[in-house]
Amino acid sequence: MNIQAYLDQQRQRVDQFLERSLPAPSAHPQRLYESMRYSLLGGGKRIRPILTIAAAQALGYDGDAMLPFAASLEFVHTYSLIHDDLPAMDDDDYRRGRLTNHKVFGDGMAILAGDALLTMAFELCSQGDIQNVFSARQQLDIVRELALGSGHQGMVGGQVMDIQAENQKIELAHLQQIHTYKTGRLIRAAVRIGGIIGKATSQQMQCLTDYSEDIGLAFQIADDVLNMVGTREELGKDAGTDEKRGKQTYPSFFGVDGARKLGEECIQRAIARLESFHKPAEPLRHIATYIMARHN
Ligand code: IPE
Ligand code: IPE
Ligand code: MG
Ligand code: MG
Repeated sequence: MNIQAYLDQQRQRVDQFLERSLPAPSAHPQRLYESMRYSLLGGGKRIRPILTIAAAQALGYDGDAMLPFAASLEFVHTYSLIHDDLPAMDDDDYRRGRLTNHKVFGDGMAILAGDALLTMAFELCSQGDIQNVFSARQQLDIVRELALGSGHQGMVGGQVMDIQAENQKIELAHLQQIHTYKTGRLIRAAVRIGGIIGKATSQQMQCLTDYSEDIGLAFQIADDVLNMVGTREELGKDAGTDEKRGKQTYPSFFGVDGARKLGEECIQRAIARLESFHKPAEPLRHIATYIMARHN
């Protein structure tokens, strides 16, 4: 399959939904919606919502009724990026090819836009008009999956470990744990939510979970490699920042080539997990390969 065409097509599908789901920029309180729209609609690969869609497709479901669930991952992810870039955290000036949210709207509005995106993710997952397609049980399981992936045992927990590890000498096992939480858990939630949408059996859910954990680690390894070898033009965000902030990463442990090799191994493992899904899992397999091959 042509994975680039697939990713472009699904990204447009997600982007159209995101645009429709946010109140108009003229709605009140106007500045809040401007700030939310600025970050949510300002580019991004949409890899998490696409993973939800691809996992549901692997199980034979491809209806648009799943888009609020898929989009909810992008809401949480975008909020995490806005907060990650704040001066109190990574203090970054560029994201997705433009100034970071707080550089344009100020720290207070950036914090609040992030808060509003996070809470709106749960609003999307719990809305009533999808109740004739998905059961209340499915909706509840999805809400729980999203909460677990995002919060204290998920992305937020990982962000805490990440800032605590700055300028510290850490073991590889600790670095892997940080990656597992700060990046891996939301990716895991994205895939598992697709599994819930497609009514995965417990065996299928286990395969999807194993796949998601492997690609989640590879995703952050790729991010760390790109931070070392990429440019702002390619990445849409500043490069070289991990080293500046005294962060140990996979390439700082293993060198760029060594880290790439470990990432590739994760990808091969991930693909092997999907054997029982046959052809409908082609997008998931190609997304795994894309994660290490990407340039931004
Ligand atoms: C960047 O995520 C931050 C990490 C969790 C590694 P993405 O690489 O998915 O960023 P966008 O959404 O495409 O901008
Ligand atoms: C971001 O990790 C992970 C989040 C949960 C937002 P990084 O701080 O390493 O990612 P970039 O390089 O800023 O995108
Ligand atoms: Mg960070
Ligand atoms: Mg950062």
